[in-house]
Amino acid sequence: MMEVELLYTADGSHTVLNKELNVTYHSIRGAIQESKHVYIEAGFKYVAQKFKALYILEIGFGTGLNALLSVNESQEMGIPVSYETIEKFPLSGEITRSLNYSGFDRHGIMEKLHNSDWDRTHIIEGSFVFRKLLMDINDFKAGEKIHLVYYDAFAPDSAPEMWTERIFEMLFKSMVAGGCLVTFCAKGDIKRMLKTCGFKVESLVGFAGKREMIRAIRL
Ligand SMILES: C[S@@+](CC[C@H](N)C(=O)[O-])C[C@H]1O[C@@H](n2cnc3c(N)ncnc32)[C@H](O)[C@@H]1O
Repeated sequence: MMEVELLYTADGSHTVLNKELNVTYHSIRGAIQESKHVYIEAGFKYVAQKFKALYILEIGFGTGLNALLSVNESQEMGIPVSYETIEKFPLSGEITRSLNYSGFDRHGIMEKLHNSDWDRTHIIEGSFVFRKLLMDINDFKAGEKIHLVYYDAFAPDSAPEMWTERIFEMLFKSMVAGGCLVTFCAKGDIKRMLKTCGFKVESLVGFAGKREMIRAIRL
C-alpha cells in the first residue's frame, strides 16, 4: 500500500497526498470544486445533452469523489449511469472513512462505493450501476461502448505509464461517436497523443487559475 496522508484543500475539502510520488489526488486549490469543474461540468453535463443513458469510465478511483458527484448528478438529471472505475492502489478504509465529503453525500453513498466488492456490479442508488476494477489501466479492455471517460490519472510527470498512446487508442476505439474524455491535464504532449489517436481536442479553461484542461471528443 502506498504511503499517504490527508490534506485540506482551499475549499475545505480533503485530498490525499501520495508521499512516495509527492503528488496530490486533486488540486490543492479545492478538491470538490476541481472535480466539479473538470469532470461534472466539462464532462458529465456535456455528454448528458447528447445521450439518454451513460456509460462512464474513470481512470483512478482514488477517494471516490468523482463517483460520488456523478451519483448526485445522475439523480438530479434523471440520467441512468453505468459507472466503471479502475484503480491499482486502493486507499485504506482508515483514509476513506476520514474523508470529509459528507456535505455531498446524502445517503451514505461513499460507504457503498468504498465497501462494494471489487470486480462486481452493484446498484448504488436508483439507476446508478457501479463496478470497481482492481487493475492496472494498461491491462484494461473496454467491454461496453463508452460515452465519457474521466481521465484522472496522476500527472504525466509522476506516472508516465498512465499516459500512453496505446491506452488512448484503446479508449478511442471503445467510445461512441459524440463521446468524450476529460482530464485536468493540459500538456502539449498529451494533446498531440490524443490527436494522433483520432480525437478532436478542445482546450477549455482549467480549474482555479490553471490556464487549460482537455476535452477530447470522438466525432
Ligand atoms: C489523481 S488520483 C485519482 C483521484 C480520484 N479520481 C479521486 O476522485 O479521488 C490517481 C489515481 O490513479 C491510481 N493509479 C496509479 N497508477 C495506476 C495504474 N497504473 N493503473 C490504475 N490506477 C492507477 C492511483 O492509485 C490514484 O488513485
